[in-house]
Amino acid sequence: MASIEIRDLVKDFHDRSGNRTRVIDGIDLTISGETFVSVVGPSGSGKTTLLNIVSGIETHSSGTVELTGSGGDGGQKRSDPGNRSDARVGYVFQDPRLLPWRTVMANLGFVQHERPGWEDRARHYLDLVGLSHCADRYPAQLSGGQQQRIGIARAFAVEPDILLMDEPFSHLDAMTSRTLREHLERIWLESRRTVMFVTHDVTEAVQLSDRIVVLAPGGTVHEIIDVDLPRPRRASDPAVAVLQAEILARFEALEAAAA
Ligand SMILES: Nc1ncnc2c1ncn2[C@@H]1O[C@H](COP(=O)(O)OP(=O)(O)OP(=O)(O)O)[C@@H](O)[C@H]1O
Ligand SMILES: [Mg+2]
Repeated sequence: MASIEIRDLVKDFHDRSGNRTRVIDGIDLTISGETFVSVVGPSGSGKTTLLNIVSGIETHSSGTVELTGSGGDGGQKRSDPGNRSDARVGYVFQDPRLLPWRTVMANLGFVQHERPGWEDRARHYLDLVGLSHCADRYPAQLSGGQQQRIGIARAFAVEPDILLMDEPFSHLDAMTSRTLREHLERIWLESRRTVMFVTHDVTEAVQLSDRIVVLAPGGTVHEIIDVDLPRPRRASDPAVAVLQAEILARFEALEAAAA
């Protein structure tokens, strides 16, 4: 079973004069199995820093992060600096970062290192995001929302043990991001992975997650909320709206306390 284990994680940034700012302050968190976990919290609470540490883009000051794969099939394994991972990890970024000189299909092949069966996997996930007809197009021939859907298909096509996403819909308009959430939930229901999803959008978190981790200013875990609602979920579903309003109210209290 794939997992992300974060133990007593601390991150300090130092400015030029040597002053220390602690932005992650003793986070313990386990995300395991086919679970979709969102990390939410006020701006500056350390969401991106936490995800960057988990992905290995950012170093940490103390504590441990361990990524475990699901046993895999002997394909490409990723090992980050520090060798704490035997998991295959997929990413979806804010900006889809497609290679402009490659077609959609070639972009999906590239991240899979053209492993055997890559074309079938690429077609399967393109189909799930509703963009089979765009396989031979170049990124510049797609809208922003379509490019992000390709970004999601690309991440799933790697068949990662763990999927890390940082605000993948934040650059898109409200209608497009709602459609993309539905695509993401559908593709995840079909191909469940261990997901850590960073967002500042509570609606997004409630619609997509099994669990929501709320970070407090200063980089601590404020609370963890289990979301026990049937899937697929819709933003218009009253139960989604009720939970969302409840979390938003707690969120506002948290921000007011920090102000
Ligand atoms: N490279 C850096 N050097 C110094 N401080 C940094 C650096 N990167 C982030 N920080 C600080 O760390 C804190 C957490 O930043 P982070 O980007 O993780 O927050 P966030 O929760 O993702 O916020 P947002 O919702 O605005 O994206 C902030 O106070 C930020 O100013
Ligand atoms: Mg951020």
